[in-house]
Amino acid sequence: MAFITSDALAETGYVVLDDHDQAADPAEWLDLEYIPWRSSGITRFAPLASYAGDLECNGFWNHTPPRTDKHGVWVEPQVALAPTLQARALAPGAAVGRCRVIELQPNEYADAVYNLHQDDNNRLNDEGTGWVVRGYYNLTDDPDSMLILRSDRFDPATEIRLPLGAGSRIIVDTQRFWHAVWHRGTAPRYALITSWTSGPELDAYIAANHGDPHPAAVDLDPAFVDAAQVELHRRIEERRRAFEAQGIVMEPPTPLHI
Ligand SMILES: [Fe+2]
Repeated sequence: MAFITSDALAETGYVVLDDHDQAADPAEWLDLEYIPWRSSGITRFAPLASYAGDLECNGFWNHTPPRTDKHGVWVEPQVALAPTLQARALAPGAAVGRCRVIELQPNEYADAVYNLHQDDNNRLNDEGTGWVVRGYYNLTDDPDSMLILRSDRFDPATEIRLPLGAGSRIIVDTQRFWHAVWHRGTAPRYALITSWTSGPELDAYIAANHGDPHPAAVDLDPAFVDAAQVELHRRIEERRRAFEAQGIVMEPPTPLHI
């Protein structure tokens, strides 16, 4: 039995929706409580929905009893401060798993390439039910920053770069793609990240918001990309040697699973 997947994501694995009118919304993310949670880069998170409604970010499979990334419980003090963000997570009508605002400090392209990882949203998910994908809704205006997707972690030819202006909305199968953000700003980037269950509700929402599987992408100088690739391998080797010096043999590669 297969998972229920989204027809809209079948072709490329991601879609970009029409921009949301972010300027019309209050900056609720500035009122939320953030907690340290290591992700790709220097990050903090403000959980809006978690395993049991507590102010924490852990995967639902790391709790007792474990479950997949579905049926998150709203963190009441947080959603009281951010009803607009909660409404945006609920808008598709699809089941919501983890839902949080990420705060990401500026970084370099080489950092983002090193931080590329696949998510683990579908751990413990049951075949015959909906595949979990994620929405990335940019809250701050970061038009020079980009979400980087690679189907092959080590092959920059597979790289897709999607710009992150205010109100940009990307839905992506983050278990399929290696992904990370290159944030070129001088202030933190904030984005609403929501785990949604694929199914007819999500498909209808993507269609209503003109989800585009072939959006405009950002070009980069190939020499710049190549240099980051060299740096990626240098960092991996540096890390391997650091572990080796402690007598730890690493299984390469060692992605983050978040
Ligand atoms: Fe991720």
